[in-house]
Amino acid sequence: MTTVKVSLSKSYDVLIGGGLLGNAGQLLAKITPSRRAAVITDDIVCGLYSQTLASSLAASGFEVSVFTVPNGEGSKNAANFIAVLNWLAENRITRSDTVIALGGGVVGDLAGFAAASYLRGVRLVQIPTTLLAAVDSSVGGKTAIDLDAGKNLAGAFHQPSLVVCDYDTLDTLPVEVLRDGLSEVIKYGVIGDEKLFLHIEEKGTGFDREYVISECVRMKRDIVSEDEFDTGLRRLLNFGHTVGHAIEQRSCFSISHGKAVAIGMAVMARASKKAGYCSADCAEKIISAIKNTDLPTECPYPLYEIFGVLCSDKKISGDTITAVVPEKVGKCVLIDFSLADFNEFLRGGI
Ligand code: NAD
Ligand code: GLY
Repeated sequence: MTTVKVSLSKSYDVLIGGGLLGNAGQLLAKITPSRRAAVITDDIVCGLYSQTLASSLAASGFEVSVFTVPNGEGSKNAANFIAVLNWLAENRITRSDTVIALGGGVVGDLAGFAAASYLRGVRLVQIPTTLLAAVDSSVGGKTAIDLDAGKNLAGAFHQPSLVVCDYDTLDTLPVEVLRDGLSEVIKYGVIGDEKLFLHIEEKGTGFDREYVISECVRMKRDIVSEDEFDTGLRRLLNFGHTVGHAIEQRSCFSISHGKAVAIGMAVMARASKKAGYCSADCAEKIISAIKNTDLPTECPYPLYEIFGVLCSDKKISGDTITAVVPEKVGKCVLIDFSLADFNEFLRGGI
């Protein structure tokens, strides 16, 4: 097992290993004297893992309640957010109790935002069961729901008190969903770790789980430690996401987050090459790594549609946008564009 220690406004451990779910009760008992836990999960993950988790918690003396939402991005909405809050209140969950997010990034973001808001903040434990959640969304404290006007438009920073990443849960992931997570791993490789990038290029879905998840979490920890509240360096983690979020939303979420980010990264690589920020070789390496992972690289929508959607992105301040631009594999830079210049820049990638 690998332990990554995170020290932000709150300090916590990210535990990464096989077979951890069955020890979740003991692990939680170490960080809280309370013996009540409210588990939030989705219908697929519930059938696969809630029993193991609930048994482990019960064996350590926890009283456990479980709330289930339908799986998929559509559940990250205001109605479910309110439903979770009401359910926590009906179950008389108090400030000393713990909300556990068991699932992928959708459950993590929804449960995380509920934990941030309920009673102005209760303890949160993240138990990621997708690769994407393991390497990204369970760490760093961003929580959110989608609004009609756009993705992640309401949310809060709320750090977990513990992250238990049992990578044996990836065994049941459909390969499509595993690939979605690899999109975020390629992102980490491009923004800061060429060795990780080459590992994914070589191994594909047969990657070394302990190595890959630990390296991504360490990189995220290091970046977020410099900029917990996303005003500077943390924006590097958005490589491919500005265009990606617009694609996700334009597709009415029929294109998954991971695939949309893959297209977004390919768009940024092509645009960066065209504008002279990176070499043709660098752009080619990024695009072929995405293709080798069987992820898409072509934007199915015209530029004017994508641009219209991304203008409502929360990363836009005034009429400028901070873009994450690759210079080489392992190094990206943050560049402020006027909206007009960014439109022109993207023309080189879409
Ligand atoms: P997801 O949570 O929708 O999970 C994908 C699918 O996999 C779902 O159908 C789910 O039921 C299923 N699933 C989950 N674990 C499984 C398992 N072990 N076995 C079988 N099936 C399983 O999607 P995701 O890709 O994990 O997360 C995407 C979300 O994460 C997006 O909403 C995105 O905005 C968010 N996100 C948040 C952050 C952050 O920092 N908070 C970072 C990146 C992405
Ligand atoms: N996933 C982007 C971030 O956590 O900032």
